[in-house]
Amino acid sequence: MERTLGLIKPDAVAAGNAGQVIAAIQESGLRIVNMKMLHWSTAQAEGFYAVHRERPFFKDLVAFMTSGPIVAIVMEGEGAIKRWRDLMGPTDSTKAGPETLRGRFGTNIERNAVHGSDAPETAAFEIGYCFAGMELQ
Ligand code: RTP
Ligand code: MG
Repeated sequence: MERTLGLIKPDAVAAGNAGQVIAAIQESGLRIVNMKMLHWSTAQAEGFYAVHRERPFFKDLVAFMTSGPIVAIVMEGEGAIKRWRDLMGPTDSTKAGPETLRGRFGTNIERNAVHGSDAPETAAFEIGYCFAGMELQ
């Protein structure tokens, strides 16, 4: 069994699409271990995305991710990290198929509706960043 962290980003929450994202997770067979709504400060978003701090899009990404509430979701299943990223589709929503969450609910390469951990190490960091141990049973 593997766990991953998903985020429903501010664009998708503001557009009222959180429920459809959660439904898609459940239909995929991934188990939702826990979830919560958060509205990050600048420091909280910078900490989550620290691996990207040298990237040219970092400032814009932090501004976007603090622009409104998000939903953080811990999911569990066989191959959960890849399954969730397949369900999300590619980073650039304009290149994402209509069967993917970014194709359905994203706008472009930045406003792309959802986030997913990309490896076991980042999943462990990101889950621990958003949830306490006793919230993860
Ligand atoms: P995520 O981390 O959100 O699941 O997305 P990802 O792995 O597919 O993409 P990543 O390279 O990790 O980028 C993180 C987020 O930064 C924004 N971004 N903007 N303006 C740009 O060129 C650009 N590139 C990336 C997106 O919101 C992306 O999801
Ligand atoms: Mg990423």
